[in-house]
Amino acid sequence: MCGIIGVTGGAQVTELLLAGLARLEYRGYDSAGVVLEDGERLWRARAATGTRSLEDLAKLVEDAPARPEAGVGHTRWATHGRPTDANAHPHLDCTGRVAVVHNGIVENCRELAAALADGGHTLVSDTDTEVIAHLVEDELGAGAELAGAVRAVVRRLRGSFAVGIVRAEEPGTIVAARRVSPLVVALGDGPEREGLLASDIPAILGRTRTFWTLADDQVVTLRPGSVEVTDVDGVSVAPRSLHVDWDLEAAEKGGFDDFMSKEMHEQPQAVRDTLLGRTLADGTLAVDELRLDPAVLDQVDKVFIVACGSSFHAGLVAKHALERWLHIPVEIDIASEFRYRDPVLDQRTLVVGVSQSGETVDTLQAMRHASSEGAPVLVISNVVDSSMAREADGVLYTRAGPEIGVAATKTHLAQIAALELLGLALAQQRGSLSPDQLADLLAQLGRTPELIDDVLGRDEAVAAVARRFTDVRDFFFLGRHVGYPVAMEGALKLKEIAYVRAEAYPAGELKHGPIALVEPGTVVVGVATRNRLWEKMLSNVAEVRSRGATVVLVADDGDGETAAEADHVLWVPPAHELLSPLVDVVPLQQFAYHLARAHHLDVDRPRNLAKTVTVE
Ligand code: AGP
Repeated sequence: MCGIIGVTGGAQVTELLLAGLARLEYRGYDSAGVVLEDGERLWRARAATGTRSLEDLAKLVEDAPARPEAGVGHTRWATHGRPTDANAHPHLDCTGRVAVVHNGIVENCRELAAALADGGHTLVSDTDTEVIAHLVEDELGAGAELAGAVRAVVRRLRGSFAVGIVRAEEPGTIVAARRVSPLVVALGDGPEREGLLASDIPAILGRTRTFWTLADDQVVTLRPGSVEVTDVDGVSVAPRSLHVDWDLEAAEKGGFDDFMSKEMHEQPQAVRDTLLGRTLADGTLAVDELRLDPAVLDQVDKVFIVACGSSFHAGLVAKHALERWLHIPVEIDIASEFRYRDPVLDQRTLVVGVSQSGETVDTLQAMRHASSEGAPVLVISNVVDSSMAREADGVLYTRAGPEIGVAATKTHLAQIAALELLGLALAQQRGSLSPDQLADLLAQLGRTPELIDDVLGRDEAVAAVARRFTDVRDFFFLGRHVGYPVAMEGALKLKEIAYVRAEAYPAGELKHGPIALVEPGTVVVGVATRNRLWEKMLSNVAEVRSRGATVVLVADDGDGETAAEADHVLWVPPAHELLSPLVDVVPLQQFAYHLARAHHLDVDRPRNLAKTVTVE
């Protein structure tokens, strides 16, 4: 999740840029850079030294022009291209007179880059962003001024973006635009009335408390003391203003009480970004960063997923989807166990490691073991250039942005989306789904962010149910089919952040032992949306109810039959059964969250746990 900043006017352009970038640090970054414009030329510095990048950038900036008029800066969280100096922002056009910082993903970057190369441009990075600088260059060459050029370019971009652009020929001017990705603009309260823009309020909170936000495809021209906003056709519009009285810590959390809550609310975007650019307009998939030889993928006759914790649960969901779509066996193993037995692997077994951090040692070692047995290894990771991404034969990145809360939420959903994309891409390549089936599934996957958003809007209803169970120390979670991994994830969240015992079972397994524990007062949380085992699930629920259990069910909107078996219902909009975990797990995250909050626990930093587990 990159962060952008821009400052024009006043005597402290460089200092404000660096201070603002430091305040975007909590979003996570692997490289950083600035461009300063001093009335004559652009001066650029970039550092790609991971979490030292800002420190290193500050040293480089000691050689910067003493009195810049304007500048833009960036903290990069790599999505396209490795975290290197060449890929760090700002990116320049061919003349070095236009500089761009960008947060988001330009979905049609490949076709734009090809057209630019045909037109004689030289692109020097692997990023999607660089195309923007060259497109602006073309528009300026045709006689436009910067704001007009940016409007023309906005019309050509697909995907999401917040951009800040400076041009040597228009000193003291920054033009910015956005679609989907966040952007705020402001004027400093002091006498210099410097123009400010940033991805996030904390970056510029020290200068003012009044901000403007832009609607999609609006373009803003910032100069000291002046903010002019137009729509993409150049018609002036009034931006929405916003006054905040948060302190800096609250601002970093985007006004939410904690990172977990913020990250749960980012889930629709995390899924959207993970799907972005990977589905073509004709309904086919182009997941070209898989980086695995199609001939290798063609001969795969078994998939083996290895992962830990929430990533393991995402893998369990994927097992159902991949077996259905590919008609080949999909095995899944807890990564910490995998290499200590004798898993049967060969060059026809595709081993998929799933890890948000890309550093979990158990998963890394499992992947190494698979490689040593000659199996092709692919990783699904949220961190570009993580150890797993570097070592695997292929990689598919989730694009959830950095997750700060220890409990995986948005990365978990992004993993499910990425694994399902992988399944569909393999099905396309192997012809195991018809083009119509593929297009239909992709369309339904593309609609899941709306459904997730809908569930997030029902947070208060879930909180009200959770608050009824604040004295309960033991929960059963039940599910069947894809509902089982959802139940496991719900139970894990509850253990992890609320420190409450929660055991998940496939509901059909109850009668083989666990039902002996059910007595009046036992609380059972079940996932009872209408997958293919829904009827059987309801019978299992009836069994625990008849023994006096209090039952909470996740159910599809309007499903009275399911509601009749429950004491409390967590309603969700219905989704395709193989995609339903993306939606059904959200009320269980909220349930755990509200129980933990009711116990006054720190949901972001649960005891005994680390975000990245680099020990065995
Ligand atoms: C989930 O909430 C946990 N924080 C944990 O189970 C986590 O999913 C597990 O440690 C795996 O981490 P990874 O995805 O970074 O490999």
